[in-house]
Amino acid sequence: INRRLALTAAGLFAALAIAGCSKQESASAPAAGAPPAPAAARVLVVGTDAAYTPFESQNDKGEIVGFDIEVVKAVAQKAGFEVKFVNTPWEGIFNSLDQGDRDLLVSAITITDERRQTMDFSQSYFDARQLIAVRNDAPITRFEDIKTLKVGVQNGTTGDEVVGKLLGKSSTAIKRFESTPLALKELEAGGVQAVVADNGVVVHYLANNTAGGFKTVSDTSFPVEKYGIAVKKGNAELLAKINQGLEAIRADGTYAKIYASYFGSESK
Ligand code: ARG
Repeated sequence: INRRLALTAAGLFAALAIAGCSKQESASAPAAGAPPAPAAARVLVVGTDAAYTPFESQNDKGEIVGFDIEVVKAVAQKAGFEVKFVNTPWEGIFNSLDQGDRDLLVSAITITDERRQTMDFSQSYFDARQLIAVRNDAPITRFEDIKTLKVGVQNGTTGDEVVGKLLGKSSTAIKRFESTPLALKELEAGGVQAVVADNGVVVHYLANNTAGGFKTVSDTSFPVEKYGIAVKKGNAELLAKINQGLEAIRADGTYAKIYASYFGSESK
């Protein structure tokens, strides 16, 4: 009996080995005419400065969440690629794309001519504008009025740029912060008297982090800014997929659903 068992076991192993072989063979040598097997899909790394609620932030579980995140997840699903989000400080975010450490960036990034020189952008997925935050009692009604104030901005953002134009790039009245929430905290603390940053983030911050006491001032001289998803310059293949995904989520209502869940029904 023992011997018979041993033989049977040996036979089983042999059969498994053969099955294993033939499986491998068929994987590495597809039948003539069959389409080539797709290369093992690499999970694409998405860089985002996750201190920008409601566009991107980290929840208490450490997960990166937000409007931008949901848009990119939906785009990736439509376009057939996998993504993983990695918190990436704004300072150095563009460099991480250039170095190949990130495959794409979603970070409420305004498409600008200057940035277009060094990276490629998808079609725009969101419209924004700069917005000024000041104390309720500040005699400020337009952008010009902050000329005499200490102004906080996030370093290297479009807010930094417009304030630099008004006050002079090297003005000591401009306080540059690593993140927009840090600039707004400084406004609360009284270290700066105004902050200029993207409208969505300013409005969200004031509503959720302060007990009133601050107001926003808009100014029509601020241009409309378009957010885009960035890829490394020349990565036309990924860019095409992203644009195709964006079109698909607009067409089937996914985009509108995500938009509504963050901002209420779409205005345009
Ligand atoms: N839209 C602005 C810009 O492109 C600010 C973006 C900052 N984004 C962020 N996740 N911190 O300059």
